[in-house]
Amino acid sequence: MKSRIAVLASGGGSNLQAILEHLERLGERRGGDVVLVVSDRADAGALERAARRDIAQSAHATSKNTAAPPLGELLAEHTVDLVVLAGYMRLVPADIVGLYAGRIINVHPALLPSFGGTGMYGQRVHHAVIEAGVRVTGVTAHFVDDSYDRGRIITQWPVPVFASDDAGTLAARVLRVEHLVYPRVVDAVAAGRTTLEVAETAGLDAIVDVRPSFTLLPHEDSRLVENIELALGC
Ligand code: GRF
Repeated sequence: MKSRIAVLASGGGSNLQAILEHLERLGERRGGDVVLVVSDRADAGALERAARRDIAQSAHATSKNTAAPPLGELLAEHTVDLVVLAGYMRLVPADIVGLYAGRIINVHPALLPSFGGTGMYGQRVHHAVIEAGVRVTGVTAHFVDDSYDRGRIITQWPVPVFASDDAGTLAARVLRVEHLVYPRVVDAVAAGRTTLEVAETAGLDAIVDVRPSFTLLPHEDSRLVENIELALGC
């Protein structure tokens, strides 16, 4: 049984595109199908991408667009069992988070819990990263709870910050990694390989096909020392 996936997106939908292409590449091995794309903005590029692929798509009701159907209604109508936030800028209502506990996930373009929470979205995240002077940022995929960016982490992947970066160059480098990591997380959750319970106990190991290659084995310490000394000019 394949999971029925809804993708919620506010913007261009490049993550949606990466998810669709990954599931397509997996063919019969895929854990689910995107059956619905929903947006808080009627002009979201993500809705167009869905329409081009004949996937059901809709704007949902907001305070500015009361004519559209409520989000919960759309999810129920399409018997969705996994909700995937991909560049979705709103807080999902608590009743929906409760209903989909362990079956609702998000991607954030930084290493949570840093650079997350209210107001931390889009380019603001990357501006804040550069402003703070950190040298490593990254991608976080996590289960969603009723606060911004605080649910249980499924996996994280680091991305370097270069001295020459502005928010645009950094955003592009992070997004490239999002496109590689998030579709695999979506498939793992859709297939039931990763569950909230597994993420709580196993952390990074929860996803077997996203190996943290940056983890050094003990016998690689000498190589690490070499790299540290090179970087520090020792
Ligand atoms: C991505 O960085 C995502 O993490 C963020 O919005 C950005 C744009 O995503 N929350 P997309 O191109 O609309 O998928």
